[in-house]
Amino acid sequence: MTESRHESLHEAMERIRGTRVWKSIFRREPARTNRTRSLAIFGNLLFHFLPVKVREKSLRVRVSYYLGSISFLLFIVLTVTGILLMFYYHPAVPQAYRDMKDLRFVVTSGLFLRNLHRIAAHLMVIAVFWHMFHVFYRGGYKPPHEFNWVVGVILLMLTLFLSYTGYLLPWDQLSYWAVTVGSNIIKAMPFFGDKIRFLVLGGNTVGENALLRFYVLHVVVLPLIAGVFIAIHFWRVQKDGGLTVPEEPASVEPSLSGKPDSEK
Ligand code: HEM
Repeated sequence: MTESRHESLHEAMERIRGTRVWKSIFRREPARTNRTRSLAIFGNLLFHFLPVKVREKSLRVRVSYYLGSISFLLFIVLTVTGILLMFYYHPAVPQAYRDMKDLRFVVTSGLFLRNLHRIAAHLMVIAVFWHMFHVFYRGGYKPPHEFNWVVGVILLMLTLFLSYTGYLLPWDQLSYWAVTVGSNIIKAMPFFGDKIRFLVLGGNTVGENALLRFYVLHVVVLPLIAGVFIAIHFWRVQKDGGLTVPEEPASVEPSLSGKPDSEK
């Protein structure tokens, strides 16, 4: 675009911004200084937790492969599909198994909904592990990120517990025996093993009480705790100064943006 066309476009925009209609819709002037840009972010309910500035380097795909964001996206998909599944599911014996069959053969798009939830759950476990390995590879566990690493470990545990508690809900042979084996592993723990197993199952066998306990943990307790820890995790990424970006040897040639490497 030539210089004069650019200027006339700019003038036209300024004229539109001066009209009463525009001013009645947009109450504030556009943010043109660093101060007003910061205020626009701080004053916005949706954006206030985002950083006002990010380093250009940390936006590169290979810094994170967006694995943390993909994990979060899958968490959202699981929450939405999980709520929809709750409309069709009763955590009772033997109704739970019948509900699963109904979802498969009777409910419109029921199989699709159930598979979306299951596949997203498998993908989330893979994404969270991958994210952890990638953060480790980049040295993202080192100070000042060490607290967020611990928050991450808690999130990994919560992700695995969510998978495990969801496993019993179809109440089929696979889930029944998987939880029987899993709870026997708990029993093998020294000192309190049998007590913890009793607490988890609400009895000595995998039965009605265990199904209800796993259901409440799966749909209320664990997602709420995970939501709180995810919020802390995101907040800490900002407070710890953004992502860990591996150091590159300083370039001798001036970069295209004209800025020294340390400012990018
Ligand atoms: C529900 C699971 C998780 C979610 C939703 C999540 C989300 C995120 C997001 C969005 C970021 C910033 C962007 C990125 O790196 O992709 C991040 C960074 C980070 N995550 Fe996670 N994460 C999860 C689990 C974990 C786990 C299991 C660990 C490690 C044990 C971990 C440790 C970290 C650390 C240390 C950072 C800062 C990275 C850096 O300094 O470069 N996270 N996470």
